[in-house]
Amino acid sequence: MVSKLPDGNPQAPAWQALATLQQAEVSTPLAQRFADDPRRAQRFSRELGPLFIDYSKQHISDDIAQALLALASAQELPDKLRAMHQNEATNNTEGRSANYRALRAWACKQHSDDRDIDAMYQHMAQLANQLRSGEARSATGARYTHIVNIGIGGSDFGPRLFTEALQEHGDSAFSVHFLANIDPSCANQLLATLPPESTLFIIASKSFGTQETLANAAAARDWLQQALPGKDVYEQFIAITSKPAAAAALGVKEARILAVPDWVGGRFSVWSGFGLAVAANYGWEAFCDILRGGVEVDEHVANSPLADNIPATLALLDVWYRNSWGFTSQTVLPYCHRLKQLPDYLQQLFMESAGKAVERDGTALQRASGGVIWGSEGTNGQHSFHQLLHQGSDVIPCDFIAVLQAERPLADQQQALLANCFAQSLALMNGKAAADIEQELLAAGENPASAATLARHKAMPGNRPSTTILMESLTPRALGALVALYEYRLICASFVWNINPFDQWGVELGKQISRQLLGAMQGESTSGLDSSTEQLLARARQALK
Ligand code: F6P
Repeated sequence: MVSKLPDGNPQAPAWQALATLQQAEVSTPLAQRFADDPRRAQRFSRELGPLFIDYSKQHISDDIAQALLALASAQELPDKLRAMHQNEATNNTEGRSANYRALRAWACKQHSDDRDIDAMYQHMAQLANQLRSGEARSATGARYTHIVNIGIGGSDFGPRLFTEALQEHGDSAFSVHFLANIDPSCANQLLATLPPESTLFIIASKSFGTQETLANAAAARDWLQQALPGKDVYEQFIAITSKPAAAAALGVKEARILAVPDWVGGRFSVWSGFGLAVAANYGWEAFCDILRGGVEVDEHVANSPLADNIPATLALLDVWYRNSWGFTSQTVLPYCHRLKQLPDYLQQLFMESAGKAVERDGTALQRASGGVIWGSEGTNGQHSFHQLLHQGSDVIPCDFIAVLQAERPLADQQQALLANCFAQSLALMNGKAAADIEQELLAAGENPASAATLARHKAMPGNRPSTTILMESLTPRALGALVALYEYRLICASFVWNINPFDQWGVELGKQISRQLLGAMQGESTSGLDSSTEQLLARARQALK
C-alpha cells in the first residue's frame, strides 16, 4: 500500500504534476481547445453499453489524462479494484467484502457459486412471481393492488429510483409507494390513500433495527389491525433483511423473510433482495435486465486498461477538481423527469461513502475527500439555481443526463427538452464576454455609460466544465448501466483518496443521541445536557404533553 504524504512518498510527484497542469489549464478556454482540435469531441467521448458519455467539455487533455493516470497508478487503483472483485475485505473497518459484481453476475447465469447469493435471488424471484401472478394473497384473500416499501436510506432510495425511472417503460403490476421518514405526516398521509384489504407492506431494513422503519412498520400493522379486525395481518408483510431472526421476532412469516448477505451495504443494495418492489412491479426479467446493465459496466471495469476505464476517468476528473482546483461541489442534472430521484440516490451513494477524513488505516487524510453532490431535474433547475452555475463565484462541474427518446412524445417537447440540455453545457463552456455584450447593447441604442455597467452584470465567465451522458431510451438495462457507472465512479475516486467508501460510522452518533433524547422527552433525566438542548427539549415536552 502507498505511504503517507507529504514528502518523499510515491504519490507526491503525481499531485505536483497535477498542480502545475492546473495552473496552465485555468487560463486555457475550453472553447479554444475545441477550436484547436476538431476531433476533441470524439477523442473524449466513449460508449459504454447503452450509454454514451461525452466528457470533452471537461478540463482534460492528453497531458492531464496522463497525470491523472499516474496518480491512479501511484494510489494502486487497479490493484484495489482487483482485490474488491476477488472478494477481499475491502470494507476493512467492518471486515466485509464489497464485491457487488458478484451480485449482478447472477443475472447472466441465474446461478452463483456463492450459496447466499443464489438462495437470495431464488427466493426473491419466487416472491416477485407470486406477487405479480396473484398467487400471493392478502389476509382477506384479495389480490394485492398496492405495495408499500417501508425503509430508509439505502433501503429506500434505490427501489424508489428504479420504480420511478421505469414508470412509463415497464409493465407495472401495482401501485407502489415508499414510506421512509419517521415524521407522522408521512405514514398518516400515505395510509389514508391505501386499501387495507389489498396492500402489501415490505419492511426493508438490513439491520432490522432502524428506528424510522420499525416505527412505520408498527404504524402499518396497527392500521391493518384496525381495518381488518380478526385477520392475521402479518400475512400482508414481507421483510428484507440480513437479520432474519429480528424479522421473525417481529412476527413476519418465515417464508416471507428475504435474507440478504450481510456484506451488502445499504447504499449498494438495490441490486440485491432490496429491489423486490421493483422485481414484483415490473417482473423478474425486467429486474434481471437492470442487473445485466450493471454487468456490462462490471465487465468493462474488470477488462479495460485504466486509460480506457470510463468510470475511473470520471472519478479522476472528480479527484482533479476536488484536490487540484479546490471545487467543493458537483451537480447532477437529469433532463428526464423519470430520473428525478437520481440526485437523491447519488447523494447517499457519494456522500455517505466519501464523507471521510481518515485513510483506510485510520491516519488523517492530508487532502480533501468527497465534496457535496446535489442536483435536480432539468429544465426546472434552469429557472432556479442555474443562475449560480453560470455566474456564481463558485465553479460547479455538472453532469447532464438525457434520454433521447420519450416514451410518449408530445408535440416537439422532447426536442425542446434536449435542446435545453445541450444549450446549458454550451453556455457554461462558452460564456459570453462583457465586451461583446456591450457592443450589442450599444447597437440596440443603450447609452454608453450604462452599456458598460450593464455588460458587466450580463457577462458570463464560461469555461465551466460538464459531462453529458446520453442513452437512447430509459430501459432497465440502461438504468442498470447508469447506476453502476456512478457506483464505480464513487468507488474509484475513494480508492484514489485511499478511504474506505463502504462504511458509514459518522451516522451512528446522531442515532445514539436521538435515542437518549427520546428518553429525555418521555421523562428520563436530562442531567449533563447543555442548556440549549435542555431548552429545546423543555419546549417540545410542553407542546406535546
Ligand atoms: O443511517 C444510515 C443507514 O445505516 C444507511 O447506511 C442505510 O442505508 C440506512 O441507514 C438504513 O439502514 P437499514 O437498512 O439497516 O434499515
